This record gives sequence, structure tokens and C-alpha cells, in this order.
Amino acid sequence: MKMGKRDLLTIANLTADEVRHLLDRAKLLKQWRLQGIAHKPLDGKTLGMIFHKPSTRTRVTFEVGMYQLGGLALFLSEKEIQLGRGETVADTSQVLSRYLDSVVIRTYKQSDLEEFASKATIPVINGLSDSFHPCQVLSDMMTIEEYFSGLDGIKMTYVGDFNNVTNSLILGALMMGISLTVACPEGYVVSDELKEKLALVEKNAKGTYKVMTDPFEAVKGADIIYTDVWVSMGQEDQHDEKLKYFAPYQVNSKLVASAPEGVKIMHCLPAHRDEEITSDVLDSANSIIFDQAENRLHLQKAVLEFLMAETF
Ligand code: CP
Ligand code: NVA
Repeated sequence: MKMGKRDLLTIANLTADEVRHLLDRAKLLKQWRLQGIAHKPLDGKTLGMIFHKPSTRTRVTFEVGMYQLGGLALFLSEKEIQLGRGETVADTSQVLSRYLDSVVIRTYKQSDLEEFASKATIPVINGLSDSFHPCQVLSDMMTIEEYFSGLDGIKMTYVGDFNNVTNSLILGALMMGISLTVACPEGYVVSDELKEKLALVEKNAKGTYKVMTDPFEAVKGADIIYTDVWVSMGQEDQHDEKLKYFAPYQVNSKLVASAPEGVKIMHCLPAHRDEEITSDVLDSANSIIFDQAENRLHLQKAVLEFLMAETF
């Protein structure tokens, strides 16, 4: 049941039943799209898109998704709106709430998103922050279900940097029954920001997560190996240092050979080929990476419909 305006700032804003609804709905929307069945529940609605970082998948899928649902998407880059010249988050939020029906924001600090949402009277969607990437992980769960019979009991191993995608994978895993192992260098621990969100989902957790340092140990028995870039947007000054530190965490054919045959390979993209993942693995028959990219469209349409449609 939807009550008042809802935000999607992390997956913890949803219940497990709502995640289930979004996954099922996204599969149906995908089917309708493939069958050429038009579905336009957002006729007359407008989505604002405030992006402070580059994007291919998130930007294009939100814009195309709004169009396919009968609405309009308005791309607002930082350079083109007064937010980039110092207008406050709170003022921008209150003004845009008067014009738009929802807003998706890609930014640095999660606290800016939370401030925007607290002042907004319209749903606010996290299109990636330094801390979380909920739309990515929701669509990843949809992709997993296209290859496995469900999420419950899936063994996923994430190898690499403990970042925004990792944080969202941990929350999603706990909510939906996945056993997640994170393999990353010594010293990478659960942040206070993640702990705060974990507290919201741990009580009803169906899945588990653990963190370890040995990637070869971590992939034993895995159904899925997932990785992401070692240098996230905004961390460019750490490039050389991180590259050396993460070298043992490359997803390559040797690591894949330590996992069960047929292990699925996932990456949210963009990939830095031959850094965190070798091209032979990315392009291998085990890779479901481009399905992940496609499903961003279908899942986000389900999110837009869930947050904005009067009826659907
Ligand atoms: N995975 C993802 O969010 O890609 P973009 O940065 O291209 O949006
Ligand atoms: N961790 C990456 C994800 C990109 C989709 C980043 O934040 O740059």
C-alpha cells in the first residue's frame, strides 16, 4: 500500500513485498515492451533529472522509460541550473516540487539527497550517490531471476572495491534472501552510513553477508561473481594507489576457474576493461552483464510507475 509521497533513496525505503512487486512488474513491463504493447500510466507527468556526475545507463533509461510510460523527462545538469551556482538544496527542492511530479538525482553525498527529499513534496529517487545505487541493485535482482529460479539461497560473491554498489547489494541481499560474500582488501569495513541502513533491514533479514579478504576462497561455491570499478566517480585522485591495492581482486579467468563451472558474471558497468575485469571474462558465455544493463530500463519503469502513477 502506498501512503503519501514515497522516496527511493536506498532499498531500505522499500519493504521486501514492495521489492517483490517491482521485480514482477518490471518483468511484465519488459514482456509488454517486447510484444509492442503500449502502457502509458504517466500521461501528463514530468520527471526532473538532476545529474552531478556523468551517466549513460541511468540517464538514458530514465529518459526513455518516462517517454515509454507516456510522461516527460527533463534533464537538468548541474551546470545548467542554479544549484550549480550556489542555490541551496532546500530551496531547489521546494521550487522543483511545484513543477515536477518526481525527481531522480545523481550526486555525491547521500546527505544531500536526504535533505532534498526531506524538503520535497514529490518522490525523490537516488540515481547513484557515493554511498548507494538502489536502482542498479533492484534491476540486478531482476536479472538474477531471469537466470535462476529465485533469489532465495543464491550465493553471490562480490569482488573488489567496497563502494556504493556493494552497499546496495548488501541491503538487497539481506532483504531478499541472497547469501552475499564480499571479497575486498584488508581495512575495508562497513561504513557508519551503511550500518544505519542495515539497522532498518536486519530485523526481517532473509539473507546474509560476510566480508573477507581472499577472493579465491570467496568465489568457491558461488553462483554469481559480481564486480565494479576500483575507482568510482569522484575518486579519480586515488586512481594510481587503488590500482595497485586492488590488483589481486581482478575478475579474470583464473579467479573464474576457482568458482563452479557456469558461474554467472555480473558488473553494473561502465567497466574498465582489464582493470577490475578482463575482457575475456566480460565477453564470455558466463557473462550476464549486458542483460543487467538492459534491465535498468524495465525496472526503472516499474519504479516510476510505483512512485508516480495514480493507478496501474
Ligand atoms: N550502472 C550505471 O549506473 O551506469 P551509468 O553510470 O552509465 O548510469
Ligand atoms: N561505483 C561506480 C558505479 C558506477 C555506476 C561509481 O560510483 O562510479
